[in-house]
Amino acid sequence: PRLKETVKPLVEWFRENKRDLPWRHRMDAYRVWISEIMLQQTRVEAVKPYYERFLRELPDVKALSEVSEDRLLKLWEGLGYYNRARNLKYAACQIMEEYGGKFPETYEEIRSLKGIGSYTAGAISSFVYNIPKPAVDGNVLRVVSRVMADDADIAKAGTKTRIERAVEEVIPRDAAGDYNQSLIELGAIVCLPNGEPRCAVCPVKTVCLAHEQGRESSFPVKKKA
Ligand code: ADE
Repeated sequence: PRLKETVKPLVEWFRENKRDLPWRHRMDAYRVWISEIMLQQTRVEAVKPYYERFLRELPDVKALSEVSEDRLLKLWEGLGYYNRARNLKYAACQIMEEYGGKFPETYEEIRSLKGIGSYTAGAISSFVYNIPKPAVDGNVLRVVSRVMADDADIAKAGTKTRIERAVEEVIPRDAAGDYNQSLIELGAIVCLPNGEPRCAVCPVKTVCLAHEQGRESSFPVKKKA
């Protein structure tokens, strides 16, 4: 019930307050894919120059599928987690061979590509094709666990699956991409970790159960292994 009430205010807030980021200028599947993989373990400000250079040098799936390992790793140098880059090239070859070079347009096909998990598949499906699948990363886990005052351990796989289902249940058919992006953006610039959520400027503070209870910083619960 709480989560459903976030849909309208968050979508409106996102449309008015989203940051101007390079990967939001033109959203096709290739661009969203590259940016989301880069953003997985790297901060937005650090990703920007890498993203722009990568797109300039490898503007499409075909170019990526043909790049040498050397050149690929040079483009990635400094971002770390180099298997991300190797998986990108591997998946580009899958798209060339299995889909004739055309990026697949269903969630299941996208999810089946090397290196693409439920988060990235949901992001591409919803941002680009408006398919109503969730895109739950660490930002979104934090936002949703606060809105619902959900004290399940987010380090457990079952918790993420349950939160993905909760988002999937409320995701608007006509604004799936904007709703997912609004959750990510809220987690990135308002619903911040630790002791510093910016509740004063939050568009869903009146809906948020953690805020109602004055317990924003108690969520998400993340138990040590
Ligand atoms: N973090 C992960 N994905 C993002 C996106 N699309 N925009 C901003 N921050 C992000």
